[in-house]
Amino acid sequence: MMLNNKVVFITGAAQGIGRQIALTMAREGASVIVGDISEQAGDETVSMIKKAHGDALFMALNITNSDSLQTAVDKALAVYGQIDVLVPNASVNARHSFMEISPEEWSRVITINLTGTFYTIRAVLPHMLSQGKGKIIVISSGSAETGSGGGAHYAATKAGQNAMVRNLARDYGPQGITTNAIAPRVIQTEMLDALYPVGAARDNLIQKIPVRRVGQPEDIAELAAFLASDKADYINGQIILVDGGRTYAS
Ligand SMILES: NC(=O)c1ccc[n+]([C@@H]2O[C@H](COP(=O)([O-])OP(=O)(O)OC[C@H]3O[C@@H](n4cnc5c(N)ncnc54)[C@H](O)[C@@H]3O)[C@@H](O)[C@H]2O)c1
Repeated sequence: MMLNNKVVFITGAAQGIGRQIALTMAREGASVIVGDISEQAGDETVSMIKKAHGDALFMALNITNSDSLQTAVDKALAVYGQIDVLVPNASVNARHSFMEISPEEWSRVITINLTGTFYTIRAVLPHMLSQGKGKIIVISSGSAETGSGGGAHYAATKAGQNAMVRNLARDYGPQGITTNAIAPRVIQTEMLDALYPVGAARDNLIQKIPVRRVGQPEDIAELAAFLASDKADYINGQIILVDGGRTYAS
């Protein structure tokens, strides 16, 4: 197993891509801290992992509140004594054209996705620095490149995450911490169902993807597990598109 003796902290792990990353990393031997604002669904992720004989702990947290993150990190360290891998995954999305984005909606999305990612990394980085090693894997989006997949506010947060990844890779690589991003496009989750309900719009979308299917959370989770492992030690500062070939197909 690739992640034996590793402790992984994942935000937004109550459903969707985050849940699958939690399940896959637990399968690979990691102890998983399932962080989310949604307690019931977060507990379900933990139950799924335990049912498969893995190790997991739920931590209620809101990534827009740095105190709540610090409390969760302190509790996780009290239980496990280490955090080897951090996956800032929690984000929100909403489909809006530019002029439909009110100042309040702009602030909401920036605060959750971008400031929340900053707070998440800020809560864990001091521990990784004292440990002298760590891996950070941000779940970004192909929207940072294309501007599609939601609205300008969402795409801007994902571009901001990518810049943060490159900054962290430069500044903390020398101290044993690698930082990368996975940039998914069109992965089957509740977020996707809200943006592209099943039907004609979904069928049109699939025709634009060279592999002719939407992605599954497993497509992201297997890469995340590899990036979290020692096998990926030389990969740093990369934004890895996982899109079935769509972005550069036409
Ligand atoms: N699904 C896709 O097609 C797709 C495409 C590109 C990028 N992504 C990215 O992948 C990641 C996961 O997306 P998903 O589709 O699984 O989303 P999702 O909406 O299914 O899950 C998001 C999770 O984040 C949690 N969350 C939201 N706000 C939070 C907060 N303030 N504090 C703590 N937790 C919070 C939610 O409770 C939920 O469990 C996101 O970063 C998203 O931008 C998804």
